Amino acid sequence: MTQTAAAHKERTLAEPFRIKMVEPLKMTSEAYRQSKLKAAGYNPFLLQAEDVYIDLLTDSGTGAMSDRQWAGMMLGDESYAGAKSWNKLEAVVKELCGMPYILPTHQGRAAERILYGILGGKGKVFISNTHFDTTRANIEFTGASAIDIPEVYPTGTDEDMPFRGNIDTGSLLGLISKYKPENIAAVVMTVTNNSSGGQPVSMANVKAVRAICDEHGIMLVIDGCRIAENSYFVKHKEPGFALHSCKAIAQEMLRLGDAFIMSAKKDGMVNMGGLLTVKDEALSLKCINMLIISEGFTTYGGLSGRDMEALAVGLEEVFDEGYLHYRIRSTGFLGEGLKAKGVPVVWPIGGHAVYIDAGKLFPDIPTDQYPGQVLVCELYTKGGIRSVEVGSVMFGKYDAAGRLIPARQELVRLAIPRRVYTQSHIEYVLDVFDDILADRERCSGYKITWEPPFLRHFTARFEQL
Ligand code: F0G
Repeated sequence: MTQTAAAHKERTLAEPFRIKMVEPLKMTSEAYRQSKLKAAGYNPFLLQAEDVYIDLLTDSGTGAMSDRQWAGMMLGDESYAGAKSWNKLEAVVKELCGMPYILPTHQGRAAERILYGILGGKGKVFISNTHFDTTRANIEFTGASAIDIPEVYPTGTDEDMPFRGNIDTGSLLGLISKYKPENIAAVVMTVTNNSSGGQPVSMANVKAVRAICDEHGIMLVIDGCRIAENSYFVKHKEPGFALHSCKAIAQEMLRLGDAFIMSAKKDGMVNMGGLLTVKDEALSLKCINMLIISEGFTTYGGLSGRDMEALAVGLEEVFDEGYLHYRIRSTGFLGEGLKAKGVPVVWPIGGHAVYIDAGKLFPDIPTDQYPGQVLVCELYTKGGIRSVEVGSVMFGKYDAAGRLIPARQELVRLAIPRRVYTQSHIEYVLDVFDDILADRERCSGYKITWEPPFLRHFTARFEQL
């Protein structure tokens, strides 16, 4: 069944939880939001969170914990060494990934810094379906290079391709013979593939990569911060997995890796935390050295005992099939609803976010007037919704003459926090798009009035043209 057909057949997507504690949201007027956005230099990163009604900036660390997780926090053992909370977390993670050496870190990029700091260095090459920004930054910081070889780029075609997150195994073989296996530090499989639309990776693709890595003696790292969401797609889209549990699928996939990196702020269902696990003892000893120097002792890394309790519970809850169904369908419902309205979205819809092609939504706004920025500003002024531009503001560069070299695409990401917004919030987002579509001829572009030398999207300021 296509995603669109499924949407028509299903009942209202009711949440598999009820609300025990509420966080009031400030309801604001369009005039109020216009003045706040102007003061923020038309950059939603510079808004105060309390002025945002629905915050879709990221799904990272923005989820809601369950009653069991909060109860677990009261059991936190804050001992410096050998805490009970650590034993609990270690057992859960070992059972999940099947690797013997488990290192806790304060978030994903800390695990990346440790592992890639050891594996990287000048002359080394990392190859990935798509390196996430912090992954690439940690790799390049060591002097190594990071090459992306997705099977397909997220061009937003209508083709219902089930595993758009896959790596191109043909290009992988080509790169191995070009750079020679001894110079390839690792193949990194990002699961789901965040930067290419949150698209899933098939088990067959990871198995094929494992076989190639085995043949050439190359290490395979799984960046699996959304491994549970990926498993849901494997179960429902890849032949042969329908009767497997999502957890069993995750266990099978993670066992194909030599190392597993996880930002626990996503499928760990916690607000802060990360993990690094490895199979090889010698590598684990090097990682532990770095962990102790920069994060903390081996039995807490960057985490407090209560954080570890909450993570141990979160890693079990995330594999609840009812939760995963609600999670993936809720994201799908938003994406399908937008598509039905004629909003160009990257298709099919991934797990944690909907990506909109703002270049196609605003065809009259040239790339050097940032159509993605137009959409993020419209979403905020019309609906109090915060989203992130993933186009030429984020990735654009300048040529020698100071002209913009645009990004491959002008996308905007609507990332959905876990267990935070209800179905009516999602329907509200869809309604706001009606207003945007009705008004789109009147929208004008933006110019950058100030920007820092690196990572300009976080702090740049804009003016409306
Ligand atoms: N790997 C992937 C695939 C990620 O999506 C992220 C973070 C990280 C690593 C780094 O983890 O933030 O805990 O240090 N992604 C967030 C996002 C920031 O908004 O997509 P971290």
